[in-house]
Parts: sequence; C-alpha cells; structure tokens
Amino acid sequence: MKKLALMVAGVLAAGAAGAAPNWSKVPVANVPVFYPGQAGLEWVLVKKDHSASNQILDKKRACTKCHDTDATEIGDKIVAGKPVGNMRQPLDSAAPKGKAGSIPVSVQAAHDGNKIYLRFEWDTPKSGGDKKMDPKNDMKLTVMFEDNKVEYADRGGCWATCHEDMRGMPDASDASKTHPKAKVMGWSDGVTKYLKESRTGLEMSGKARGGWDKLKSDAEIEAALKEGKFMDLIQFNSGKGEAVDGYVLDARHMGGGKSLVKVDGKKSGNHWTVVFERKLAAGGKGDHTIAPGKLYNIGFAIHDDNADGRYHQVSLGYTLGLDNAKADFNAVKQ
Ligand code: HEC
Repeated sequence: MKKLALMVAGVLAAGAAGAAPNWSKVPVANVPVFYPGQAGLEWVLVKKDHSASNQILDKKRACTKCHDTDATEIGDKIVAGKPVGNMRQPLDSAAPKGKAGSIPVSVQAAHDGNKIYLRFEWDTPKSGGDKKMDPKNDMKLTVMFEDNKVEYADRGGCWATCHEDMRGMPDASDASKTHPKAKVMGWSDGVTKYLKESRTGLEMSGKARGGWDKLKSDAEIEAALKEGKFMDLIQFNSGKGEAVDGYVLDARHMGGGKSLVKVDGKKSGNHWTVVFERKLAAGGKGDHTIAPGKLYNIGFAIHDDNADGRYHQVSLGYTLGLDNAKADFNAVKQ
C-alpha cells in the first residue's frame, strides 16, 4: 500500500515536470546480462575456442541469434569455472566467490523528439560476500552504442571493445603502464577497452592476442572519431550517483561527451531502477546523434556487488531505434 502511494506520488511529480515518460505505456524488453569470464573478441572469433566463429565472421550472425536463450546458462557455467567453448576449458579461474551467473534486466526506451530516455530495472542478486573490488560503488551501469560504423558491434555489441590483452585478461601486458602514451590513454592500471578501428591490426590467435600497442597515428584516430567510428559510452555509478559521458575508440575515455543530461538511479530494497536522460543530438566528443529511421547497435553491463574491471555482467548486442518496431529497444515517442 505504502509502495503504491509512493508510486502515485512519483507519477504525479513526473507529470508536473512534464518530461519523464509514462513507463507503463512503454513495452519492456527482457534481457539477461551474464558473466562473460575472459571470452574477449579474439576468443569468440577463433574456431579453436568458439566453434561458431565462422558464422560470426562470414555469415555476420549476431550472438543473440544463437545465444538468446542460453546466455544465462553460459553465465552459470563460466562463473562456476566449468569448461566452455570448443576447447572445453574453463574460461575463468578467478570468478568472484558467489557471483551470480546472470541477472535478468527489464529495458525500456522512450523519446520526446529532443531527448531519449533509457530505463533499466532489475533485482540485485544476493551478495557473493567476496572482497569489494570497488568499495565506492555498490553498482555501476554502463551503456555503449554506435552508429553502424564499428566492426563487430553489429553482431556482438560491447564485444567490439573487449580484447584478450586488456587488463585482467589472459594476454595483458604490464608494458602498457610505462608506454609513452600511458597517461593520455588512462593506462595506469593497464589497457582499457579499444576498437579495432584504432589499431593497425589485431593478433587473433598468437601468444599475445589483441593489438593494444598497434596504435594508429593520432591523425588517423582523430579521423576515425570524426567519421563516427567509436562507441558512445554512458555510465551511472551508485557511489556518487554520477553520470559519466565518454566514449571508446583508442582507449576508454570517461569524459568528453555533452549529450547526457542526467541519470536517476534508485535502489529500493534490492530493486534497482536507473533512467538515463540524453539529448538525441550529439553534443560533445564521442557523442552520436540518435536519428529517426536508423538502428543503432547497443549493449550494456552491470558491475554488481562492488565489482570492478572485467568482473561484470554483460549483455549481448542489441539494437536501438526511434519509433522503429524492428529495434530490440524501440524508443516510442511520448
Ligand atoms: C552460429 C551460432 C553462434 C553465434 C552467432 C555465437 N555463438 Fe557462442 N557458441 C555457440 C556454440 C554452438 C557454443 C558451444 C561451444 C562451442 O562449440 O564453441 C558457443 C559457446 C559460447 C561461449 C562459451 C559457453 C559454452 O557453453 O560453451 C561463449 C562465452 C559464447 N559462445 C559467446 C558468444 C558471443 C559473445 C557471441 C557473439 C560475438 C557468440 N557466442 C556468437 C554458437 C554461437
């Protein structure tokens, strides 16, 4: 009863502000986020690890085509350290104790012609009780999307940014920390997300997979940014309740964007509701314009239970559109 009264008050407040969408009218997409272990891009694209790699490369098949129903099983297996993939080897021998294999998330989207609203809701799984890797943030929710210019983002969403030589991954190199560009890249703790578009090549199956040190020239990276070859990144962190507007190209940049207006994140009991409010227009560095008539590739991740780095739960790749029934996340105008 009390909850109902609060909800009614919330709806009235929103109505008074004249802005927030009426979420009860918006369809819900149910999306699992799951624990991916160390299955980076080079892992999913190589046959000896992942038998379906050819289907992704040649037939351009998206992860969701094969894993729409078994993503939760995959998460359970990886988190338990069970053998997975073609090689039947464990993908992760360092999964946090008691970590949930997956979390079901409800996703909704709406827009008003000026701004898009993305709403995520889920119940936090029981804490694993392992050490708090990020003591300041109980939870972080990160969304990445792009405009059909980033290779593999059409099939794998966030997988386009995740490589075997990033920090915490099997082929990580300490050399990144003393690289001349370590400071501008934000590599003090090691290599962060990057796109193939920023590198001269990616090693797919050698001893050191990935291409962290195969950086293209500054001019080429600048050009890629201008051409829209980047993943726009928005994040909410629960510690300070901050809204971060960045992007991923040569590295993960946690700033530069100007399109994100605000993020409202609330935890009631164990239930999280997070609403991103973002201008449709690109405002700053690493911002994409979200225009009608197009489909954007989108993925998101939750760092639950004070997790940090790779110890998150991630979604496969989905599509976002405005008033577009073909989109997995269809933002309907209100
Ligand atoms: C054409 C179907 C297909 C596509 C597309 C596909 N996979 Fe798979 N995936 C499989 C199959 C089949 C397995 C079972 C093990 C094997 O044969 O490698 C698997 C296994 C996995 C595993 C290990 C879990 C397990 O139970 O073995 C992960 C992780 C995974 N896939 C991630 C992905 C990601 C991420 C993508 C998209 C970038 C993707 N897959 C695209 C078919 C597919």
